[in-house]
Amino acid sequence: MTKRVAILISGSGSNMVSLAQDMTGDHPARAVLVLSNRADAGGLDKARARGIPTAVVDHRPFGSDRPAFEAALNTVLDQARPDIICLAGFMRVLTEGFVTRWQGRMLNIHPSLLPKYKGLHTHRRAIDAGDAEAGCSVHEVTAELDGGQVLGQARVPIEPNDTAEDLAARVLVQEHRLYPLVLRRFAEGNRNRIDLP
Ligand code: GRF
Repeated sequence: MTKRVAILISGSGSNMVSLAQDMTGDHPARAVLVLSNRADAGGLDKARARGIPTAVVDHRPFGSDRPAFEAALNTVLDQARPDIICLAGFMRVLTEGFVTRWQGRMLNIHPSLLPKYKGLHTHRRAIDAGDAEAGCSVHEVTAELDGGQVLGQARVPIEPNDTAEDLAARVLVQEHRLYPLVLRRFAEGNRNRIDLP
């Protein structure tokens, strides 16, 4: 049975595009929804151009009432009936209630070599720490922010004089390789970790 995938975005959606591009042919899954908390997310037009249904649930009218925002997310998600949710540059922290609802079926891409540098500004922090390498991780989503089981990682050397922007651009290229590979395995029921050279 082909798995149904909902992709949650907040921005340009380049990871969403790399996932959607891979979900063709003999892939065990298909994108059935791209959902954003921002109506101006560049990724929405990219999804529409690929014929993927889109929806927007703006978080701002809900203020600090995260459960109410998430209830609205779930209303849209329930209509799409996803088997798997991929967070792809979705910049809202999800509550334990929402995560528990989708536990074991939700993935996220994070631009660091977890468990290092959970949260924001990962490239800046890796450079400031004098690290030799950075990278990205795909992990299962749990109630602990960026804390779930890592299912895949890709490493990127940090070059002398790298700015955070330089590094982010090189890591993003690896994100677009890693996330589709992990999703394909996850959709096949394979949770074995993969490390890209
Ligand atoms: C990516 O670097 C991702 O790791 C991070 O947010 C960025 C989103 O990029 N969480 P895009 O919207 O997929 O282009």
